[in-house]
Amino acid sequence: MNRNKDDGRENPANGGIEWHAGDMPYSTAFGDHFYSLADGRAECDYVFLKGNGLPERWQEQKRFTIAELGFGTGLNFCETWRQWSTRWPADGQLRFVSFEKYPLSGCEIGRALDAWPELAGFSRSLVAHWPEEAPASVRIDFSDDIALELHVGDALPCLAPWADTADAWFLDGFAPARNPDMWSETLMREVFNHTAPGGSFATYTAAGWVRRNLESAGFIVEKKKGHAGKRDMSVGRRAS
Ligand SMILES: C[S@@+](CC[C@H](N)C(=O)[O-])C[C@H]1O[C@@H](n2cnc3c(N)ncnc32)[C@H](O)[C@@H]1O
Repeated sequence: MNRNKDDGRENPANGGIEWHAGDMPYSTAFGDHFYSLADGRAECDYVFLKGNGLPERWQEQKRFTIAELGFGTGLNFCETWRQWSTRWPADGQLRFVSFEKYPLSGCEIGRALDAWPELAGFSRSLVAHWPEEAPASVRIDFSDDIALELHVGDALPCLAPWADTADAWFLDGFAPARNPDMWSETLMREVFNHTAPGGSFATYTAAGWVRRNLESAGFIVEKKKGHAGKRDMSVGRRAS
């Protein structure tokens, strides 16, 4: 297997990916692209960072934890790191924790992220530190102020025992209709239980059943205008 690591088609460990429009990864298992065809980096900025009130909140809270469902190519991580590097508060520390069932290889991550020259310093460092064989869990300290923690496995059993909370969640598990498990009521309840008081989430979906799952978990949910022509997206917060 793994005939062509860069291609990924013969690598079932990554869930099966194809490359569309050059270097856009597409999951054959879920029938969906990893990020917006318009511009994944702009989508990350609009949906996940601005949707969670970032980077402004970093000025009020110097030790900040972001958690994500679906690490994929690490695009969200690299764009977050880029913004952190220009806006980080003195003595600030950012921890980015991500849950991923089908980790890509370093080659695949590099191929996808090469599309954004503005991320080059960050994506090259990510690839250089990326394990050859992704273990069950890895922590990479890129510097004193930023660390990545990757939990490999199905999100629900990985998140349930996680003994910590996040200040902001990036919910990025493919379209809900194509991957309902990543948006189930049980998983959304775990997300809520692992959110600090006053913490938040953001996601590109505004599917009614997903919003209801988030509300019944305990979040105060709001619809916002979506990115790049999408009508709506969702954001929310945990009051206490
Ligand atoms: C839309 S992509 C994430 C894109 C990513 N945030 C990025 O920056 O490239 C969704 C990700 O969720 C992962 N995934 C799908 N089902 C999962 C599950 N049950 N548990 C954990 N990860 C899952 C997929 O392997 C894929 O990497």
